[in-house]
Amino acid sequence: MRVLAIDQGTTSTRALLLDETGISLIHSVEHRQIYPAPDHVEHDPEELIANLLACLSAAPAVDCVGLANQGESCLAWDAATGRAISPVIVWQDARTAKRCNTLKAQGSETLTLARAGLPLDPYFSASKLGWIMENVPEAHVLLSQGRLRLGTTDAFFRDRLTGSFATDPSTASRTSLLNLATCEWDGELCRLFGVPIEALPAIHPTTGSLGTLPGGHALTASIVDQQAALYGHGARKSGDAKITFGTGAFALTLTGTLERAPGVLPTIAWVEDGQPPVYALDGGVYAASSAVNFARQIGLFSSFDDINHFEAKPAISRGIAFVPALAGLACPHWDRSARGAWMGLALDTSKTDMVQAVLEGIAFRVAEVKAAMSSIATGTGPISIDGGMSRNPWFCQFLADILGTPILISDEPELTALGCAQLAARGAGGEVVLEPKGRVLEPRPIPAHWITTFHAARAGVQ
Ligand code: G3P
Repeated sequence: MRVLAIDQGTTSTRALLLDETGISLIHSVEHRQIYPAPDHVEHDPEELIANLLACLSAAPAVDCVGLANQGESCLAWDAATGRAISPVIVWQDARTAKRCNTLKAQGSETLTLARAGLPLDPYFSASKLGWIMENVPEAHVLLSQGRLRLGTTDAFFRDRLTGSFATDPSTASRTSLLNLATCEWDGELCRLFGVPIEALPAIHPTTGSLGTLPGGHALTASIVDQQAALYGHGARKSGDAKITFGTGAFALTLTGTLERAPGVLPTIAWVEDGQPPVYALDGGVYAASSAVNFARQIGLFSSFDDINHFEAKPAISRGIAFVPALAGLACPHWDRSARGAWMGLALDTSKTDMVQAVLEGIAFRVAEVKAAMSSIATGTGPISIDGGMSRNPWFCQFLADILGTPILISDEPELTALGCAQLAARGAGGEVVLEPKGRVLEPRPIPAHWITTFHAARAGVQ
């Protein structure tokens, strides 16, 4: 079976081909990151559509196609013309932080946590869609004419490219408008955020016959990228976990049934056609590679090779800590107002010490996420990791030490595309199995005071 996966991510759109021999890149194109105002992060909807079409036209003949989309990013468009009436408001965009704080002060978080499983945070789509309703006058004109469409990017792509206005439960579970237990839009949540429920897409299973794309390709899976990566990592049973190191670090643990733990987010992993929903726990750290890139931009190092190895002992053992809260603190603290900081600097602290502390801080934050998940989901196998930072051997060993768990560094860099393509194959009634390959790192014991030193630093930025 030959399957095309299109991975429409935060920075690029890529087409990859999967068959029994493996996965290969066919086409890749980056898009602009638009920062029109502080805290605003946007993409151009037409640019994303053009990039998807370029990926589709670069594809050879395939049996089916899977689409993976960036989570939470959303927009509004006109049902009659397909024309977007807002930019894509990207998941990183925090323009609705004040609105979320106001709702929190009014006690509304009890409702969002109970129904959607999500705290009140601008990360999720609901407040972004509410912002569009408040700030884009055309939205009301279209609503009154029954022509308004609101949705995550997958719904926009599917509407434009297959003519079906639909999303999947995994993406819908990132909006804060979905009732997690029933897998349906929740009227009360929609009212809370000012989102007209009639403008939202239909929710179809993640896999199955989802429509025909330009070029006659059958779309047979549509899933949010982190969940696709979880499938690509081979997670099939409760407790299986992965961490993807991209802009942020995204940890997901499969739970099977709907489980809750303070500070971590219950979410839908996928719903295969005709099957009940499979749930997971999700925990994000907003800044991972973005923190490393920040350290590079401010001149702490120049080549990534320079940070693959450090002569000195960990910075934390010398009392130096970095809290990577450059975009606030996500799981399990959910504090957007927190900011990054180094602690414990002295006159002899070097740039190398400071960047070493940055890598360590990311590992400590991921360990906080894992600890928050552990009360519910503990797997027996290693935690599988991927993404840019998983290529840094020093970081990986430090991460294993801090997590206190073996980690599996996957040899396959394209796990989002792999999972998406494997689900698409299943949606088309087939299967493509690839033996997961990678290297396991065993944890080494660490002194307990490293953790307490980091926690004290983290508490200091809140
Ligand atoms: O929650 C945001 C996540 O879906 C973004 O992933 O890979 O597009 O940066 P990525």
